[in-house]
Amino acid sequence: MQRISLIAAATLALLATTAVQARPLDAIQKEGTIRMATEGYYPPFAYFEGKKLVGFEIDLAELMAQKLGVKFEWKTVPFDSLLTGLSQDRWDLVISSHGITPEREKAVTFTLPHYCSGAQVIARDDSIKNAKDLAGKVVVAQTGTTYLQYVQKNVPSVKRLVNFPTNEAALQALMSKRADAWVTERFLAKEMLAKNPNANFKQGELLFVERIAAAVSKDNKTLVNAWNQAFETALKDGSYAKISQKWFKEDIRCPE
Ligand code: ARG
Repeated sequence: MQRISLIAAATLALLATTAVQARPLDAIQKEGTIRMATEGYYPPFAYFEGKKLVGFEIDLAELMAQKLGVKFEWKTVPFDSLLTGLSQDRWDLVISSHGITPEREKAVTFTLPHYCSGAQVIARDDSIKNAKDLAGKVVVAQTGTTYLQYVQKNVPSVKRLVNFPTNEAALQALMSKRADAWVTERFLAKEMLAKNPNANFKQGELLFVERIAAAVSKDNKTLVNAWNQAFETALKDGSYAKISQKWFKEDIRCPE
């Protein structure tokens, strides 16, 4: 009995020292470092070149940190644990190409969208290019994404819908003909397909467009406001345009 309560006390003590509160801006500035998280397997938005994390969202987030006057630290974790990590205060901000959805908005607070883009059907067979062509097909998408959810909700007639933890794994399924179609983001598809030119996959029509934003802990107002202000500055002072041109040769900001 005593041993049990000792263990319980030790566990509580451990929890008390490891549990952190959502850090408001002044706490982050006081410590001097913002903790940011991303998946890191989502080119050209955030991915590894060797050991270095690079990409459009990496450049943008690091620019925001600079404008907030803080250093940054990156954590890379599987896509479907990013937002829950915010409510556990494991990091201050997530930037990993999340579309703003009402469901997610219940759990986290989104920043202003940093780009707008859309979902596409990718297939070997060029007659598979939009939602209705997915009927009777084996379709793959990344776990936890709006792309998976879109097919679940809008294409009940698929033969099978299979989710994979990464886009790389979804693409592999398409390459090895275990799947007929892959639903994913159009810039990512372009980038990943360019690395596999022999596969000769086709990019289909846009299924839907989404507004993509970073997220902070629910109601971390000071942080979201500071980020948004820095972001608006970047839109005006040309630094956003420069980063967007660098990665896409076009400006991918959302229309006003
Ligand atoms: N835009 C999609 C969504 O909101 C996919 C995001 C996937 N991001 C990633 N880093 N794998 O769910």
